Amino acid sequence: MYALVTGGAGFIGSHVAKSLLDMDIKTVVMDDLSGGFVENVPEKAEFIEMSILDYDGILNLFEKYRFSYVFHLAAYAAEGLSHFIRRFNYTNNLLGSVNLINASVLYKVNTFVFTSSIAVYGSAQTPMNESMVPVPEDPYGVSKLAVEQDLKAAHEQFGLEYIVFRPHNVYGEHQNIGDPYRNVVGIFMNKIMMGEPCPVFGDGLQTRAFTHIDDVAPVIAKSIFNAKAKQQVFNVGSDKPYSVIELAEKVQRAMGRKTGIVHLPERNEVKHAFSDHSKLQNILGYTAKIDLDEGLERMAAWVKKVGARKSKPFTNIEIKEGVPPSWLSLIEQG
Ligand SMILES: NC(=O)c1ccc[n+]([C@@H]2O[C@H](COP(=O)([O-])OP(=O)(O)OC[C@H]3O[C@@H](n4cnc5c(N)ncnc54)[C@H](O)[C@@H]3O)[C@@H](O)[C@H]2O)c1
Repeated sequence: MYALVTGGAGFIGSHVAKSLLDMDIKTVVMDDLSGGFVENVPEKAEFIEMSILDYDGILNLFEKYRFSYVFHLAAYAAEGLSHFIRRFNYTNNLLGSVNLINASVLYKVNTFVFTSSIAVYGSAQTPMNESMVPVPEDPYGVSKLAVEQDLKAAHEQFGLEYIVFRPHNVYGEHQNIGDPYRNVVGIFMNKIMMGEPCPVFGDGLQTRAFTHIDDVAPVIAKSIFNAKAKQQVFNVGSDKPYSVIELAEKVQRAMGRKTGIVHLPERNEVKHAFSDHSKLQNILGYTAKIDLDEGLERMAAWVKKVGARKSKPFTNIEIKEGVPPSWLSLIEQG
């Protein structure tokens, strides 16, 4: 019995792969290393460097391993940047997902687990819950919702069983803190290590509930054993929202260095986004346990050990109009 974890050299995927191996499930990690690192892949996992856009490669892989479970986490998840890389976003995040869904139908995968995102809710009333009609406001959220809908259609047409998780603002060990376009906790830690202030878009009063990885990955991995989870969508993560300003203070405390805050022009983003997790508690019996201070301490200890990680800058911008100036200068340097 094999499980496939796409994006398993990335942050959440590497932890999901580890949780599967801890349950003695043989695990294959597939990742194109566009945003992940080989050293994140758990030692006992088999690693295949491949893109989810390589349909023939995927079919060969499914033929060889006959996966029972597919955990699909590979994506380019820079939500704010997705407005400006629309073709890339839909190709990678939507068509890439459809390649895996097709293969899962053809090879009769037992359960397909997909990490969607809180981005599908758009500016819905908080706390967002799964019974709300999702109205995503950016191409990243639109592609996530499209995959959710495609899974529903594939279940109805072909009987493919699936589980969807909508995480939000996950942080922790293995996160790519070198990506300048996403992962606010990582961006702050990277800046603090360089002695620079934490960059905050607008007034910094946007609120998010930040979730440590250990409150997300194990619950995703174990979900396949719960029959009641099938064909369900779950929010997963912490309940308590903090403003980005509060976060910047807490991250500086965890890193043991005060470098201050620099305000950047406001960008087009949802002001308040945090969700309700009672469905996860009721069906999967899990509530997030790690508070923000403790989680940040754990991540800071790891970051100080491994140092900053540089990722390739994303330079292939399709529409430059409206790109935040701080990103434009990075793109031009790249
Ligand atoms: N981190 C969060 O807060 C968060 C919140 C909501 C949803 N998610 C979702 O969870 C998943 C994992 O996110 P993450 O934070 O671990 O990101 P990540 O960037 O660390 O991991 C994604 C991995 O996917 C790989 N990848 C990207 N495109 C690929 C392709 N075409 N073929 C093969 N591999 C490819 C990257 O190399 C990377 O290793 C994503 O689907 C993301 O949308 C994350």
